[in-house]
Amino acid sequence: QDLPMESLSRPSLFDFYGVCMTKYFTDNWDNIQNFKAGPDDIVLASYPKAGNTWVSYILDLLYFGQTSPERQGSVPLHERVPFLEIQIPGFPSGVDALNELSTFPRIIKTHLPVQFLPKSFWEQNSKIIYVARNAKDTAVSYFHFDRMNKAQPEPGNWESFLQRFMEGKMVFGSWYEHVRGWWEKKQSSSNILYLFYEDLIEDIEQELGRICSFLGLSPTTELKKQVTEKVLFDSMKTNKMVNGSTDEVFDFKISPFMRKGRVGDWKNHFTVQQDEQFNEDYEKKMKNTDLLFRTVL
Ligand code: PPS
Repeated sequence: QDLPMESLSRPSLFDFYGVCMTKYFTDNWDNIQNFKAGPDDIVLASYPKAGNTWVSYILDLLYFGQTSPERQGSVPLHERVPFLEIQIPGFPSGVDALNELSTFPRIIKTHLPVQFLPKSFWEQNSKIIYVARNAKDTAVSYFHFDRMNKAQPEPGNWESFLQRFMEGKMVFGSWYEHVRGWWEKKQSSSNILYLFYEDLIEDIEQELGRICSFLGLSPTTELKKQVTEKVLFDSMKTNKMVNGSTDEVFDFKISPFMRKGRVGDWKNHFTVQQDEQFNEDYEKKMKNTDLLFRTVL
């Protein structure tokens, strides 16, 4: 293996306007902030590990599954749905990839907290879908992701990772502030659809219906069936174009990108004591919000 993996080093976390970030998501900051959105852009926002890839594949299939079936087998999902703020040396930046995208509409992945979304998206009233996942499963998923992703800071052991999660010292900052920030914004913005990973797991057809009505799409029964089959965890796990195997910064020997795909895997990681401490802290951080998550189904 030659460049760029060899030269890639695990980045350190630093405070960036009050949010923990790494250089891979801040080096291109001016271009990100000046990004020119279009009224037909669809933004898919989430805190890391909430199910962004899942929903981006749903959207890609809804828009392009029938019109460009060939792209399903030849273009990796992360190229079809560029990641706005990414800037890793040796790879095209998210902004450049988006500006070069020839398909329409553009589906745009971001993990930015609400206050960092480029203002052009608000001016254009672009449609935004936010996906949220309960904190405990998010923390577990993020831990395994940071172990296998060489473009993320070293996770350390689970105990210390969980402490850092509670302190909000993660890439893209505090989970608590992220999910709440977008939730509060949604209350006054009709262009935001707020989805939950747990709902997608529980009833994909219902959530697909919500997504379609939000986007003004009326897919045929045939297409809906196709989508629900293709986005099943097991189908995605074996699909090289969507399972992360084309992503060079991942080390699947450590952990797969499509790892478990369940609600409640946190129970295999949290000790009783960690759970108690987490719950107590959670209540304090989430006390004055009506945003509710399910940690079991
Ligand atoms: S990223 O890297 O932050 O964009 O990750 P993201 O895609 O948001 O989240 C990854 C987790 O989502 C799970 N996933 C799914 N679960 C159920 N069904 C489907 N189809 C699916 N696709 C992705 C993925 O497995 C990660 O969760 P964990 O708990 O680690 O398995």
